[in-house]
Amino acid sequence: MEELVALCKRRGFVFQSSEIYNGFAGFFDYGPLGVEIKKNIKDLWWRDVVRRRDDIVGLDSSIIGSPKIWEASGHVAGFSDPMVDCRESKLRYRADQVFWARVALAETGEVLGAVSVMESGTMEAEAQAAADKMKRKAAKQGALAPLDLKDLTQATAEDLSIIPSPATGNPGTLTAPRDFNLMFQTAVGATVDGSNAAYLRPETAQGIFTNFKNVQQTARAKIPFGIAQIGKAFRNEITPRNFIFRSREFEQMEVEYFISDDDDAWRGEHQAWLDFSWQWLLSIGLREELMGRDVHEAHKLAHYARACTDITFRFPFGQSELQGVAARGAYDLTQHQEASGKGMEYFDEATKRKYVPHVIEPSLGVDRLFLALLTSAYHEDEASSARHLNGACLHVGGEKRTLLRFHPAIAPIKVAVFPLVKNKPELMAKAEGLYKQLSMRYNCFWDVAGAIGRRYRRMDEAGTPFCITVDFDTLEDDTVTVRDRDSTEQVRMPMADVIPYLDKAVHG
Ligand code: GAP
Repeated sequence: MEELVALCKRRGFVFQSSEIYNGFAGFFDYGPLGVEIKKNIKDLWWRDVVRRRDDIVGLDSSIIGSPKIWEASGHVAGFSDPMVDCRESKLRYRADQVFWARVALAETGEVLGAVSVMESGTMEAEAQAAADKMKRKAAKQGALAPLDLKDLTQATAEDLSIIPSPATGNPGTLTAPRDFNLMFQTAVGATVDGSNAAYLRPETAQGIFTNFKNVQQTARAKIPFGIAQIGKAFRNEITPRNFIFRSREFEQMEVEYFISDDDDAWRGEHQAWLDFSWQWLLSIGLREELMGRDVHEAHKLAHYARACTDITFRFPFGQSELQGVAARGAYDLTQHQEASGKGMEYFDEATKRKYVPHVIEPSLGVDRLFLALLTSAYHEDEASSARHLNGACLHVGGEKRTLLRFHPAIAPIKVAVFPLVKNKPELMAKAEGLYKQLSMRYNCFWDVAGAIGRRYRRMDEAGTPFCITVDFDTLEDDTVTVRDRDSTEQVRMPMADVIPYLDKAVHG
């Protein structure tokens, strides 16, 4: 993870927000390369989910809406995480992410105290490993193993008096767990008495539900159909961490797919969305061997869901949720119908029946997908042999290189153009002409600085799939060398073939 974070900063993918003021936890800024990747992700999703499907239309709803939305949706009452404070360090923890166990004397069973450990991605497995370590230490002192790891939501006041704080290691310094609402509050307008409180949306979904009738009627959409939205969401996460995996400001790409209220309908639609989402993630270059599925047990479901399966990914810190595909039933539309007094029913012309549709919701975080793609693409190898082009050394055998093997459609820079030398005006003019032509279609990079091998290395780290060298032969026959990032193979081709060649790789 450290390597990825360092690469992101070094190459201008992601910066810590407010860095010159020592950062601001849970917020990030995307640099020149990062913003290109994010845009590519969103454009590809919009193309494949909205434009290429006849059954889905788009929406862009406001980030701040009536607070009544969040009362009706259940977020004011229920969108919270259990939190504990360490009274000494003033640090806050999510109670379900701190695990603890008692340690007792082997002979008498007398309780010596407790151990605690913070979950960090791989959750209980890591906590268990840490506890096992303590177990061995305790065993040496004749103490019993810490057994049955529990999280802090399962701790009584008596337990809390012996559980050490993960921050200070001192027992008795943690408060009892309490619910902490994750929505950011703000005030709309100039009134100061609190009557104008409003929330930054914690999911884009509710803007879709509240516009259900507007969209269905204006688009004359027939069930089944979906409404898609890409936009920012905000959550005051208690412990934002793992870089951009869990932040306080992030982007979501969500679909609310409205289906019949027939009780059997949702299973097939839910499966279809899981399959569609899986295939889409593969199509943009996610490595399948790092992906998994996690079917939520009933007690893990969000307050609105009747079923949910996550598509998971093996991030550097462990296997975790990338995308959720939930069956939300008629929960949201019914809640808004009751709270607003406005009908949310759909009239089925064929059966002449009115009903509140059910919903399947695939919900994917842009930033989380960004991290997954980065993890998938990160690769280190050795350039195996020296290559020469018109006497210039292009590769040094055995030299280590870091590369990002992005799918060309995701890569922030699609192609780089290198004039072999900069002191030959005709050669520079040819290269500039090609660069200008390619820039009309792709995000291109121009580099004349340093040996060709070093220019390649810079582009490998940026994830650029193709580098084109314009050399002395180009002046004779209008051909160029196109070098492939992953294989380092070079092919010679007429300049006129370059665009069709790149188009095929980028657009398929
Ligand atoms: N509308 C449903 C919903 O919001 P969720 O599981 O809370 O469900 C959906 O969020 C997706 O949004 C997650 O799978 C993840 O990709 C992304 N996400 C959620 N919280 C996030 C956070 N704090 N930082 C980054 N991405 C987040």
